[in-house]
This record gives sequence, structure tokens and C-alpha cells, in this order.
Amino acid sequence: MNKTWWKEAVIYQIYPRSFMDSNGDGIGDLKGVTDRLDYLKYLGIDVIWMSPVYKSPNDDNGYDISDYQDIMEEFGTMADFDELLAKAHEKGIKIVMDLVVNHTSDEHQWFIKSKSSKNNEYRDYYIWREGKADGTPPNNWGSCFGGSAWEYDETTDMYYLHLFSRKQPDLNWDNPEVRSNVFNMMTWWCEKGIDGFRMDVISMISKTAEMPDGKVNGLYGDYGPYCVHGPNVHKYLQEMNEKVLSKYDIMTVGETAGVTTELAKQYAGEDTNELNMVFQFEHVEGDGKYGKWTDEQLPLTRLKSTLSRWQTELYGKAWNSLFWNNHDQPRAVSRFGDDRPQYREVSAKMLATCLHMMQGSPYIYQGEELGMTNYPFHGPEEFRDIESINAYKEWCESGRVPHETFWPCITFKSRDNARTPMQWDDSAQAGFTTGTPWIAVNPNYREINAKAETADPASVFHYYKKLIALRKQNPIMVYGNYELLLEDSEELFAYTRTLEQEKLLVVCNFTDKKTVFTIPAEFVGMPCLISNLDNRYDKQDIALEPYEAFVLRKK
Ligand code: GLC
Ligand code: CA
Repeated sequence: MNKTWWKEAVIYQIYPRSFMDSNGDGIGDLKGVTDRLDYLKYLGIDVIWMSPVYKSPNDDNGYDISDYQDIMEEFGTMADFDELLAKAHEKGIKIVMDLVVNHTSDEHQWFIKSKSSKNNEYRDYYIWREGKADGTPPNNWGSCFGGSAWEYDETTDMYYLHLFSRKQPDLNWDNPEVRSNVFNMMTWWCEKGIDGFRMDVISMISKTAEMPDGKVNGLYGDYGPYCVHGPNVHKYLQEMNEKVLSKYDIMTVGETAGVTTELAKQYAGEDTNELNMVFQFEHVEGDGKYGKWTDEQLPLTRLKSTLSRWQTELYGKAWNSLFWNNHDQPRAVSRFGDDRPQYREVSAKMLATCLHMMQGSPYIYQGEELGMTNYPFHGPEEFRDIESINAYKEWCESGRVPHETFWPCITFKSRDNARTPMQWDDSAQAGFTTGTPWIAVNPNYREINAKAETADPASVFHYYKKLIALRKQNPIMVYGNYELLLEDSEELFAYTRTLEQEKLLVVCNFTDKKTVFTIPAEFVGMPCLISNLDNRYDKQDIALEPYEAFVLRKK
């Protein structure tokens, strides 16, 4: 297996809108990020992945871009960006940009021209189709954010495809001009000195030419078989690699929902010349009760078998990302741990141990290192996220599912859980802004905040700091081979890592009950690398406390 810096790196994701507001308008911004670089340096992370900061009308908080080479006014200016990049580099921190090129905003110049007539030179930049004879959309596909995936445009009496919101028209990657424009734009950012790209829904850029109705799931047909991992996706990524990526020492990670381990070996194979790693969702996706919406936790055996399959099948062949949450997922501790006060810290540390000891590049989503929790929503008027707003309308206001039934599901999984402001201190608005924040602050900021946690050596923050430092000293955490123990346990997640003579034993109690574990003979008496409780591990049979986690090392 090749050794590379991005396999060894720990990545910290910033959602700029919610990270730090420097000018009191209630919206996080680039200067806010620059101001907090010392905090990130102290934590010890290597790379920042920044959610989109480009010019955008914010239909989907920046994932709808109207100019790829300009900065969103609310976030600052290009000079602010350059300053952030320079200061981050001074501190040895790299910056990976979000690349959103499956679609643009409908306010992008390309789209404005494209829709102006049938024969303008930008027409073929997007995907236009005639409606059916009765005037309904070309097929039954539903968009990710509700409603049809087709929007009628009266200027030319045709429909355009949008797999996300109607303000996010899909680009036509089969058009070589689209590809060369995107590649030129990427080169422009690379020349600026950025350190890589996180590629938004990159597995969806190639669509099949035939666009038949999809299997109906919920209200609309599924476009998946025709738009995800489409016919030319690998060809286009190889072209991107040849024309741009291969010329720079950068990190690339592809958001590839629905990817299998087999496909991942192509997207992010050691020598397939596409991307460095995939960011896949199999372990955070279950069977929702209503579309993706559910209030149920996944059984531990299922979580373990999914994660373990990714560990073993990619070993030596391809590279994966490790994460429990991001800006599209609820908070890790509320979903996989236990956010009741007596268990929040210990379970947050347990989850961190479990994840950082696996193979892959770990991602920390802002606030995860503090054990930030889901938000206690009071009503749908508190949602800011287009997906949650539309889903509430589509499932609830329509009368399909009663509020009492749907509410626990949408509040458990809403993306807004991750988007409440970063909790910096116990002052008003958690120190995030001196103004009115664009989205409510979680009221638990008085207890859970960076100021308190950086001052407390026993905090979740310091536990993450220690895990990050351990990764630098123990190549086995990066390169060791993984083996699952106790496959059938619904309580414990235990595994080993092996690198030459060295071996790690990782044991995590995922329950709020005491659970007995028998330490394998070869690890009895071996030193503890890290543990979330002050216990001793020198006996063979250990009664683990709720959410206890420990790692033993044998050399
Ligand atoms: C990705 C992003 C998500 C966004 C969507 C459309 O899944 O992570 O936030 O809404 O793509 O760009
Ligand atoms: Ca601001």
C-alpha cells in the first residue's frame, strides 16, 4: 500500500455559515475562519474541508453556485479567502475546497444563457427535454429535495433536469465544453494554491441517454439507475485527473452516495487515476420509515458488518473516508452515542475511539470535537434547510403522515442539527455572533463550548486532540490491517489492527449497560494506548462501564 500524506491526515470540516461570524451580521464568514485557525492548530488537524464559499443565491446554502471564481458576499471577498489560505499554510494547515459541479445555480450565467433560447451556444450545457404530450414532465423522477426532478421553463416550452432543487439545474457533462470549462476553473483554484477538492455528488455527473420512468418509491420515481454511477462517470474522472488533478499534489475525495466496495476500487483505487478516496454513506443509511426519515437507530451488528466490509474489502486496494457525521447528517453523539447528560461525554469519546482507530482518513465535523448534540426543535418554523422544509410539507402538511408520527423522524435526521452555530463559549449566542444568528443556537451551549473544553483536560476536545496526536505517532492506525472480533455482539464493537509485529486491540461498549469482555490472551497485561475512563486493563475479564472504550497495544 502506498504511503501518502492524505492517508495520514485528519480532516476537519467547516460549514462556514455556522462556524464563526466576524462582523455581527449573524452569518459565519471567512474572516471568522481565519480568526479561529489557532484553535484548529491546537486541536492538531491537518486539513480543512470547507463547504462552498462561492457566489450563491443560497437556495441550498452555497451548494447552488452562480460564480465558481468569486466569493459569496456574506462570506467576504477573494482577498479574505487569499488571507485565509496564506495564514492556514503558515500554520501548516491545508485547505480543501468543495467542488459542486454536478449542477450550478439557476442564476449562473451559463444557465441564464442556456434557458434564453433553444439555439444559443449554452443550450447544451444543461439537460433539456420536451414534456410528454399532455404537458407533464418527461418522466416520473423525483428530486432529492422533493417534487419532480424536472422544471418547466416557459421561455422555450421545455423542461430541465434538476436532481436537487429547481434552483440547481444539472450540468450536461456529455458536452465537452462543460468539461473543459470545469477543468479550467479547477486549474485556476489549484494555481491559487489550494490543497484539494471534496467533490459534491460526483458519482451523479454522468446520466444515461435514455431516461425512462424510475421505480416509484414514495411519491416519485427513482432516478438512481439512470444517473448514479452513470455510463461515463469513470471516463470523465480520468479525464479530470489527466487534465488537472495529476498536475498537483492535492487531495481529492468524492462524495459517492450509493457506491459499493467494488465501485470504490474504481473511483479511489490505488492506481485507477481517478480520486484519492471515496466518501460513502452505507453505514449512515438505513431503511427510513418515510423516505430517509426515521427515528430509529441502526442495530449495532448491522453498523459493524457494514463498516467492517469497507475495512476489509478496500484494504490495500482503495481508500475510504471515516466519519460519523457531516453537514448533511445529524450529530454523531445524538445518533450513534447517547446525548443524555450523564453519557454524552463518555459516548462521544467512545465514538471517536471507534472511528479513529479504523482504516481511512478521519473527518471531524465542526463541533463534533466538543460532543455537540442535535438541536431540540420546537416546530417546523425553526427549519432553515431546504430539504427539511420541503420534506415537512411533502409528508406532513399534505396530510400523508400525522405531525406526531413524523416529527420525531424529521427532528432526528434533519440536516439542520449539524448546522446550528459552533459553540465557542458561554456568552450570548455561544460567542458565534454579536448579532442575531441565521439559525438558532443550541441552548446547551452554556455547558458545551470550546472555551470550557479547551480548559478541561478531561473534555471531549482533549480526547480528540489526543487521538489526532496518536495517529501521528502510530502508523499502525493508518496502515494496519483490520479484523473484526465478536461479530454477533449487539453491545460491543471490538477489532484489531495489525502492522508487522505490532497489534492494536480496540474495544468499545455501544450501550448504557455494563458489559463483560474477555481480553484475548496476547493482549493481557499490554499497555493501554488510550481509554475514555480511568480503568485498568490488566485482568483478562473486564466489566466495561456504559460507553467505555479502550485500546491496548502489543509490540
Ligand atoms: C451534497 C451536499 C449537500 C447538498 C447536495 C446538493 O450531498 O453535501 O449538502 O445539498 O449535495 O449539492
Ligand atoms: Ca458575518
